[in-house]
Amino acid sequence: MNYFDFLPESVAIDTIISEHEKLQKWINQDKKGFLRYRKPYQALSQFTADFVDCAADTVIIGDSNQLSPDEKLIVQGHLKSFIPWRKGPFSVFGNTVDAEWRSEKKWQRLAPILPDLRGKIIADIGCNNGYYMFRMAASEPKLVLGFEPSIQHYYCFKSLNAMAGCSNLDIDLLGIEHLNLFANCFDIVFLMGIIYHRPSPIGTLRDILSALIPGGSLILESQGIPGDEPYALFPDDTYAKVPGTYFVPTGKCLSNWMKKAGFKNIDFFCSHPMSADEQRQTEWMPFESYSDFIDQKDPQLTVEGYPAPCRIFLKGDKKE
Ligand SMILES: C[S@@+](CC[C@H](N)C(=O)[O-])C[C@H]1O[C@@H](n2cnc3c(N)ncnc32)[C@H](O)[C@@H]1O
Repeated sequence: MNYFDFLPESVAIDTIISEHEKLQKWINQDKKGFLRYRKPYQALSQFTADFVDCAADTVIIGDSNQLSPDEKLIVQGHLKSFIPWRKGPFSVFGNTVDAEWRSEKKWQRLAPILPDLRGKIIADIGCNNGYYMFRMAASEPKLVLGFEPSIQHYYCFKSLNAMAGCSNLDIDLLGIEHLNLFANCFDIVFLMGIIYHRPSPIGTLRDILSALIPGGSLILESQGIPGDEPYALFPDDTYAKVPGTYFVPTGKCLSNWMKKAGFKNIDFFCSHPMSADEQRQTEWMPFESYSDFIDQKDPQLTVEGYPAPCRIFLKGDKKE
């Protein structure tokens, strides 16, 4: 499958194809940093799952009984090449991948307000290993295109989907910066865990508006700070030890940004405090996690002394 064939005429198709080819030429070089992930991808691509289930909390790719115990161990070894696994859970031929984030919890919060995904053209910006794309696949969209510039996550998704064979899912090494090539393209855009990393969040929202078809929807999830006032925190350096964090908004502030960017029907539908139940160290992500980012004496504060994060969820539409 080639995602270009699904895109409407409004997109800059020649530029998208030439950008894709440029990125492929770059990633296909035999450099250590690329081979590190390309080799396990090639090895895992030899296994095709007879059974795939994306409808439940754990995305199941392949039944445990389909492979011999030795083959299962080979699969497990290659899957471990993608450590640290940030998003999951997955079960791959019976190998349970318990990732840092319990991503099924985010999906459970989103699922009740999602528009019908069936037959839709969808973008998941910053899709990571595609956990949410697989969950979308259960609703039979026409295409979910993941934008993901990280080589590790790109090959991790490619590996999972080489085994799963979901023909309506695809990924490219694109960043959110490429959205301007996709004018009036997507029925739905997911932007989750990204906006606080953008130096110009309103510009980002305007780019998304341009990439949506009239009447299309943005599903927006972000790290936020608690509070009812329209404020954003702008950290000195890191926020919860994460560099590259610009504006961390309250829900009201993010709603105002959406309004200023031109979104209609803005719905701030969910907010919850972050917790170490949802983001934690596991065998598949053996490094620091949420509890290391938070003040040990006061869980209401980050290690830097800022308000501890919550997660905020909004939906908005482009006018018809
Ligand atoms: C905090 S994670 C969020 C992942 C997922 N969307 C979620 O909600 O769980 C941010 C993701 O954005 C990706 N990313 C980094 N720079 C990006 C860019 N310029 N455009 C799009 N995605 C980017 C990262 O590689 C990472 O997978």
